[in-house]
Amino acid sequence: MTFTAGVDVGSLCTKVVILNSEKEIKSYAILRSGAVYRGAAEAALDEALKKAGLDAKELSYIVSTGYGRSRVAYANNEITEISCHARGANFISAEIRTVIDIGGQDSKVIQLNEKGQAVRFVMNDKCAAGTGRFLEVMAGALEVDLDEMSEISFQAREDIEVSSMCTVFAESEVISLFASGYTKPEIAGAIYRSIARRVTGLVGQLGLKERVAMTGGVAKSKGMVRALEAKLGLTLIIPPEPQIIGALGAALFAYDKAPSCKNGNSS
Ligand SMILES: Nc1ncnc2c1ncn2[C@@H]1O[C@H](COP(=O)(O)OP(=O)(O)OP(=O)(O)O)[C@@H](O)[C@H]1O
Ligand SMILES: [Mg+2]
Repeated sequence: MTFTAGVDVGSLCTKVVILNSEKEIKSYAILRSGAVYRGAAEAALDEALKKAGLDAKELSYIVSTGYGRSRVAYANNEITEISCHARGANFISAEIRTVIDIGGQDSKVIQLNEKGQAVRFVMNDKCAAGTGRFLEVMAGALEVDLDEMSEISFQAREDIEVSSMCTVFAESEVISLFASGYTKPEIAGAIYRSIARRVTGLVGQLGLKERVAMTGGVAKSKGMVRALEAKLGLTLIIPPEPQIIGALGAALFAYDKAPSCKNGNSS
């Protein structure tokens, strides 16, 4: 059996996916990237290998992607995260024409053609607003964790707005909303809607093409998904583990490059 791996070194988290020669996910790992990307890439690969019961020598080809992709010493090749998210999403469903990837540090919208290849994309990487980091700061201001923030947003009785587009101003706006008597559920709902507004603006730059999928760690937040679905007026495709879609795409590119996989040789 031949195995291939994809490594997505994101600005906040490093993800590894290992595929077997049947193109099935054998294992995956998600770790915080921390200050040393090279170390995170090694630790994440070790964890995925351990879960799969494999030795590094059994990997025939490895592709790296993401913000820190050039730091992965053991990778055979590097591919951009735009291509990898498109490839991973296409593997989940061939109907996907738009991918919204909200990671720790930026948000991207990618348009796919009928073959599942990325053809155009837009990106907000200028500031933290509309990213996972923004959500983390707001959860901190509300003194809840990310899962709690998602849960409580469903209990909001009133729709209020957080209007500041900047993380620092939005944080003080949240604190003053709280001080003026609004509840945590109402403020949590407002935070998700403010990200949804930003992301919908990005989608509008490309033109909405269905079906639409959401990838990246933030897609694990049900509160975020609900707010975005309401703003876009559609049902999003959310992969079972949305945070590993870039690494999955990288592993699929690795699969193409590994000769024994391509020939369907499972020895
Ligand atoms: N359950 C959750 N609810 C909300 N956010 C979550 C959840 N789990 C993870 N996240 C967020 O996902 C983000 C990390 O996602 P991801 O791994 O896709 O980012 P990244 O690839 O490191 O970043 P980038 O693509 O911007 O370089 C973090 O900001 C984290 O807070
Ligand atoms: Mg990412």
